[in-house]
Amino acid sequence: MSDLPARDLQPLWDELAAQAAHDARTNIAFPGATDITFSQLSHLMTQVLFNNIGSPYDHGHGRNHTKTVEQQVVNIVGDLFRAPASRWGYVTSGSTEGTEHALLDARKRFPAAVIYTSAAAHYKIVELADKLMMPLVVLNTDAGGAMDVADLLGELAQRRDRPAVIVATAGTTMTEAVDDVPAIAAACEKLAITRRRIHVDGALSGLPLVLEPIAGVPRIDFTVHGVTSIVVSGHKFLSTQTPCGVLVYRDPPHAATVAPVSYTGTASVTILGSRSGHTPLLLYAALAGLGIEAHRKRVRACRAMAAYAASQLRGVGVDAMRHPHAFTVYFPPLPPTMAAEWVQPTDDQHGHLICMPQVTTTQIDAFAAAAATAITSCPHAAPLPARRRQDKATVAT
Ligand SMILES: Cc1ncc(COP(=O)(O)O)c(C=O)c1O
Repeated sequence: MSDLPARDLQPLWDELAAQAAHDARTNIAFPGATDITFSQLSHLMTQVLFNNIGSPYDHGHGRNHTKTVEQQVVNIVGDLFRAPASRWGYVTSGSTEGTEHALLDARKRFPAAVIYTSAAAHYKIVELADKLMMPLVVLNTDAGGAMDVADLLGELAQRRDRPAVIVATAGTTMTEAVDDVPAIAAACEKLAITRRRIHVDGALSGLPLVLEPIAGVPRIDFTVHGVTSIVVSGHKFLSTQTPCGVLVYRDPPHAATVAPVSYTGTASVTILGSRSGHTPLLLYAALAGLGIEAHRKRVRACRAMAAYAASQLRGVGVDAMRHPHAFTVYFPPLPPTMAAEWVQPTDDQHGHLICMPQVTTTQIDAFAAAAATAITSCPHAAPLPARRRQDKATVAT
């Protein structure tokens, strides 16, 4: 393009806003909360440059950052997960970056480490293992999607001489299953695997689970001996409206020991170079602005809505299932006609909907009615094209 004349973009912004509002009605399948909004931050978000480059714990040469707020965010999330005073963390671009940081840390400490995660873990973990050139063992799950710890024990036993990094999931992408983190730690203990890291990917369910624990759901926080790091997404439960995450370590990672870079005056301890100084503001506004009691209430409301959704779907003949803590209701993939109107992610076993705080009974009722029509109008239709979960496999050990 040789020339780019200025033009009035307002019609485009209006169209995008109208489209987003229209699509929100039938998008109840991805776990982004949108109920908390941040108009009080509009000046800071749109008219001030903030760049939290480098370590959140040293200010560096730059002054236009929000690292003090970032530290508060890490501390609030650290407190929720019962992190000890030695905690260390930062605001990431999302859970994926946090998991990458934890895997890289494991590799630096233990170059021969093998990653173990379940077939229901997020697809990015397979890619990260590939990118970091770390061997990966993908484990079986139970019917509800939680890691099969007996399978883990068997796989660990075959490599007792190798350091292990286990990525446990607290809220798997499709069924919101929670891996039994205490049992994972016990499996390592049993085999005397002391060179180990346990990272909890709590992208969606980490915060809801520590805000409102449920009897029978295993603990996923730092009180579980052996948990070394936890990550949560900000744009999922905390409604930050733009992707971000919070990574917390029990103790400072290997990266925290590096010297400051002379150009920035701050240690390069993060995956990215320049980092958003705005997302810590959104996270702080969501966490401290609303307060913990409001978030507990949000969790209870989401669970109640999910229970309602499961019952409405069962009422129209959909074999809907739900873990007791979950916002997610999952079911065998619905006929393809459903996807014309409703956003329908699937894997080889399930479709789902997720009751984030903004989801209403009106939406659930409309979804159930559409599912009923889809099932009766094409009872023998092939389900939506399935996306495979990662195979149980061992990659280049
Ligand atoms: C279990 C799990 N982990 C990680 C992610 C990726 O998180 P992010 O988008 O914050 O990188 C997701 C996203 O859906 C997820 O479900």
